[in-house]
Amino acid sequence: AAPCDIYASGGTPCVAAHALTRALYDNYDGALYQVTRNSDGSTMDIYPLEAGGVANAASQDDFCASTTCVISLLYDQSGNNNVLSRAPPGAFDGPYTNGYDDLASAIGAPVTLNGQKAYGIFSSPGTGYRNDQTTNIPTGGDPQGIYAIMDANHFNDNCCFDYGNAETSNTNTGNGHMEAVYLGNCSIWGTGTGEGPWFMGDLENGLFSEQYLAENTDNPTQTEPFVTGMVKGMTDQWAIRGGNAQSGGLTTYWNGAFDPNGYNPMSKEGAIVLGIGGDNSNGAQGTFYEGVMTSGYPSDDTENQVQANIVAAGYASVDLNTAPLTVGSTITIRATTPGYDTRYFSHNGTKIVTEVTTTANSTAEQQTAEWVVRDGLGFSGCYSFESVDQPGNFIRHYGFELYLESGNEKQFFEDATFCSLTGLQGQNTNSIRSWSYPTRFFRHYADVGYIATEGGVQFFDATGNYNYDTSFVVSDGFLS
Ligand code: AHR
Ligand code: AHR
Repeated sequence: AAPCDIYASGGTPCVAAHALTRALYDNYDGALYQVTRNSDGSTMDIYPLEAGGVANAASQDDFCASTTCVISLLYDQSGNNNVLSRAPPGAFDGPYTNGYDDLASAIGAPVTLNGQKAYGIFSSPGTGYRNDQTTNIPTGGDPQGIYAIMDANHFNDNCCFDYGNAETSNTNTGNGHMEAVYLGNCSIWGTGTGEGPWFMGDLENGLFSEQYLAENTDNPTQTEPFVTGMVKGMTDQWAIRGGNAQSGGLTTYWNGAFDPNGYNPMSKEGAIVLGIGGDNSNGAQGTFYEGVMTSGYPSDDTENQVQANIVAAGYASVDLNTAPLTVGSTITIRATTPGYDTRYFSHNGTKIVTEVTTTANSTAEQQTAEWVVRDGLGFSGCYSFESVDQPGNFIRHYGFELYLESGNEKQFFEDATFCSLTGLQGQNTNSIRSWSYPTRFFRHYADVGYIATEGGVQFFDATGNYNYDTSFVVSDGFLS
């Protein structure tokens, strides 16, 4: 049986069931999610390959070929139509038009399930999904369960990479107005042990690891690329459980009372958030593959069966590079836009620019356009580009503009990590995307280097020439 069949047998049915990767009921054959093409705004629904099956990733790949796509809707498999869409502004504005949040790239989190390709949501800071008008989601102190599959290698310490129950007003309405599962290493409130990330309960005005806002030494740092996190609550009792989504069972990290200061009974409002806090705090990052909310407090036994089903689904990582580069090689990165195709990615001081460069230039000038491919500083499955003439300095983005800098912080490492894809202009080119912002690709715009989202809100996100401006000829050595 699939997760929601298991919850139903346990008397705690799914009232929201969101998955990019697969059907969460044995007999579900409806749409899983919707993608939107940035180039023309057209949309397509992605279905499972068969009832109860894995998503049809090939249909997305066909639809999004030679362009960029975002995930615009997560459908609800539970029959309650609790669809998640682009989150609106709340106490905090998102980065998109009118304060809305960004949508996730459709290709940021490729995986396989028992060998079949699928995609998750790789949520960058500023990205968020929400539904404020739900059906049958628990409210007040009504019992609720949640599970979500996330990636413990993609997180940060900002508020709040959440999935679960939140305010219908997009604002903080007080203690106990949320009950969501959180993954990250935010240490403003409670923590687990070690450096994090930890699964915690976002119960509003606090990420709780146990009864009070304190360190819970029974709540471990999560380390695996696929992790199952569970939060459940009812009057007088709540729990956090978690485990490796690829093997083994669940461990209970917390099982006990709520903080009595406004959290018992809960005052849940029944909105659903993904990737953000209840007040639309949107600085967090994380990955989501599938998750559900139940009506009723699931038993540990029911949850253990769900975990066994998750393990049997066979989640596995895949190479994020569709056009891999050779680590240790020295490359040049040449623009392909007509009229600009003698320009190479280069640096002028700390700014990344494109410069017309030929073998007639001095060695020093040529070396400003040469890069050594390194293992990605922030994620070793992608790459970082080290300057040949300024060793120890790497291409990184900041404010979505590219710079040549050095650094030793997690933020720098992630800003300096890029994945290499088959170019949007075709086989002989590469498009190089930001690891941390998968909608954003290396782009030259007015001869300056950026990471740009096709049709985004910045001037360098302009749709005109997007494919050309983001497709480069990557060659070993200079001018080869
Ligand atoms: O509880 C942690 C966060 O605090 C909530 O997600 C948000 O609404 C508030 O800022
Ligand atoms: O480039 C986007 C973001 O801008 C970077 O991730 C961060 O370092 C800066 O705030």
